[in-house]
Order: sequence, then structure tokens, then C-alpha cells
Amino acid sequence: MNYWIMTYGCQMNVRDSEVIAGLLDDAGYSPAPDIERADVIIVNTCCVRETAERRIFGRLGDLKRLKNKKPSLTIAVGGCMAQQDGVSERIKKSYPHVDVVFGTYNLGELPVLLRESRTKGTRFFDVRPCDRMEWGCDRAVVSRRAAGVTAFVTVMYGCDNFCSYCIVPYVRGREVSRAPDAILEEVKEAASLGFKEVMLLGQNVNSYGKGVNGGTGGTRFAGLLSLVDEIPGIERIRYMTSHPRDFGDDIIRSVAESSHVCEHFHLPIQAGSNRVLEAMRRGYTREYYEDLIGKVREAAPNASVSTDFIVGFPGETEADFEDTLDLVRRLRFDMAYTFMYSPRKGTRAASMDGQVPLEERKRRLSALTRDVNPIALEINERLVGHRVEVLVEGPSEKDPLVATGRTRSNKVVLVKGGNPR
Ligand code: SAH
Ligand code: SF4
Ligand code: F3S
Repeated sequence: MNYWIMTYGCQMNVRDSEVIAGLLDDAGYSPAPDIERADVIIVNTCCVRETAERRIFGRLGDLKRLKNKKPSLTIAVGGCMAQQDGVSERIKKSYPHVDVVFGTYNLGELPVLLRESRTKGTRFFDVRPCDRMEWGCDRAVVSRRAAGVTAFVTVMYGCDNFCSYCIVPYVRGREVSRAPDAILEEVKEAASLGFKEVMLLGQNVNSYGKGVNGGTGGTRFAGLLSLVDEIPGIERIRYMTSHPRDFGDDIIRSVAESSHVCEHFHLPIQAGSNRVLEAMRRGYTREYYEDLIGKVREAAPNASVSTDFIVGFPGETEADFEDTLDLVRRLRFDMAYTFMYSPRKGTRAASMDGQVPLEERKRRLSALTRDVNPIALEINERLVGHRVEVLVEGPSEKDPLVATGRTRSNKVVLVKGGNPR
């Protein structure tokens, strides 16, 4: 029996897909050479914005063709979108070719659900509420890591922040940190398998350590970074995502003093107006954020700084938006991910007054990217003529004779001179 996994969304989903692959390997399945030859297709979904959802529903529709061609095919849908209220029902009604729906809280039961569905020939819809702490957080026991130079290692699950626009806390449940020993063990194992880089994962890694006791000490994030820094064989350490509010001096110090933690700070600000930041419930002001970036750049002068922005949050006026543009010009980010606000059912922001019309949100999005990109280019051009350390990831997409890799500051570099493998 062959399986094929389709993954949408963030690195946490990529990691979950590795765990799903591990669970299926354990249950006697093997990876399919391509989707057409799969006996089981797993769709691991995201719902952070409407565009993601729309794409996934479109793809689910397309899968019907495969099922018609091969009626024995089992299709399972899981992940954040499946966990969202009402989605399981919608799939049940409108996507009769989907056999199994599972949530983020019962990923471990996927092999059982698949077996039941296949042997009984019935459909299974099993999505549990995100409040079952006994689910435990060490589901990362088995996994099939994707080939490459970077190993993803989860340090915490869930999110307690409830930023007013965000669906993640509803579909990923409460914050649970993994024990430091389990994390360090996993990093050591990754090193022994030849991985050169680890990416520590969590929605808010810098609040790591809540509720963790025992272990090797260093249970806060700064301490964890120092412990991972000592593991031989791991040349680079990255982490994702950090929340500006909890990004303390201890973490800045830990990054600056460590040998392997990369000099790249991704600190999503979301908006440049204090009024909007407050409505978003981000827990910091623009001034605080500017100070923080100042401290980061002082401690690590060659560091790169990137961020996320949401434009067109409910109630965002033209003046608020100008504040965002002003912040971009003042802080000069190496890179910024820009998003148009997308209302998510069940979040506070979705029912706020002053929803910004789509056309206006689009206009702000393109105005913002127009400001962000030339700054990023200018910063990158300053690197021309410098020698930098590049961790090569493999052949580039466009030309197999050109390799692609990243600098420590997370800039993508193409290297001429053939496929490194
Ligand atoms: N935990 C991370 C963010 C995870 S979601 C953090 O707090 O930084 C990644 C990004 O998606 C967010 O930073 C935000 O910019 C964007 N995002 C989240 N919800 C959104 C929504 N409803 N509409 C548009 N963008 C959104
Ligand atoms: Fe969403 Fe905020 Fe949690 Fe990030 S910190 S996942 S934006 S609620
Ligand atoms: Fe999407 Fe879930 Fe990640 S909603 S962004 S896959 S945590």
C-alpha cells in the first residue's frame, strides 16, 4: 500500500506531515512514487487565510478524478482546516469522495481510521475538540524526515495568544511545551543522520517553557537555544516563529553569543499603527517594537531582520496604513511577508465594525509591497563583493547545474558550479 501526502500551510504542517509519514511507515505503508500510483492520499490542510482554504477545496474537488479512475483509493483530509468548526460537515456533504477526516488533535489515530475505512468501506469523520491535554505533546516519536539539510524539530504546540484576527489558537489548541530532553534528543538524532541545520518550531517559540519542569534545566527559550548550540554536528540553528512581545534581552543575548544560532530575526509586527496593534491584541506598541529592533541590531550588527504585515485590518484608516509605510521606511527590513487581512470565522476581528472593502485591501497590499521590495534589494546589493557562508540545499528549481542555498542571514543564494550531490 502506497501513500502520498499533500501539505499546505506553515512549517508546523510540514513537520506534521513527516510525523504522518512515520506513522504510516510504521503501519506498513510505503511512500508512493507519484500521486497517480497512491492507494491512500492524505491532504494536510491550512486555514490561516481564505486563499489557502479556497485552494485546498479546489484541490479536493480535483481529487475526485483520481477516485473515479481508481475506486479503491482512500482520501483522507486532516490538519488545521479540517479542525475548523463546520468544515468536517461541509466535506461530508459536498465531497463524497473523501473517506476520512481527522483533526490536529488525533493525528496519531490516522492509521486506525484508514484501516477502519478501508476494511469496512465506510467514511470516518473524527475531529476532536482542541482541549484534550491528555493527547500529550510527544507525538513526534515516529517520523520520516524529508531529505535535505534542515531538520524540523517541534518545541511547542498550540498558541495562547489569541491575536484577534487569527484562527491558529482555535485549530491548534493551547500552548504545550515539549520537555527539553526530548527536544535535545531529537536534535542529536538529526545530527547523527547528517542534518546540518535545525529549525525549532512553535507558533510562539519565545514563550517556550511554560509548564515545563524537570529536564536538563534551561527550560526557557534562551536556555534551550544555548543547549541546542552545544550539540556537535549542527552548524546552524533557526527558530520560527517568535513574537516580538516575548522577545526578551536574554534571547537576544543568547543568539548573539551562540556559535550556531543564525543572525536572522523574524519578528512579525503586523501593523505600524498603535491603534491597529491594540485592536489586533498584539500586546506591544510600535515604539516598543522599534526599540526591540534597535537592540537586536546593536547586539548583532550583521543580522538580518524580517517581518510580517497584515493590511486592511478592520478599522484600519488611511492614516493607520500610512503608519505602516512609515515604519517600513524607518526600520528597513531585509524582507517582509505581506498579507491582506482575511476574516476568519469565529475570531474577534471577523465581527468587528469597519471591515475594509476588498478592493481597498488589495490596493494597500500592493502599495506596501511597492515600498518593501526596493529596500530589500538595496540591502542585498550591499552584499555584492562580500564572501558569505552558504549552506547548500540542493539543485535550484530552474537549472540543475546551479545550486541553491542560504546565508546565515537567510538570504537565498544561487551558486554556479554544478549540482552539489
Ligand atoms: N505565530 C506567528 C504567526 C503565524 S501565522 C506569529 O504570531 O508571528 C503567519 C502570519 O500570517 C502572521 O504573522 C500574520 O501576518 C498572517 N495572518 C494570520 N492570520 C491572518 C489573517 N486572518 N489574515 C491575514 N493574515 C493573517
Ligand atoms: Fe496567531 Fe497570534 Fe498565535 Fe501567531 S501569536 S499564531 S498570530 S494568535
Ligand atoms: Fe496554517 Fe495551521 Fe500553520 S492554519 S499557518 S498550517 S498552524
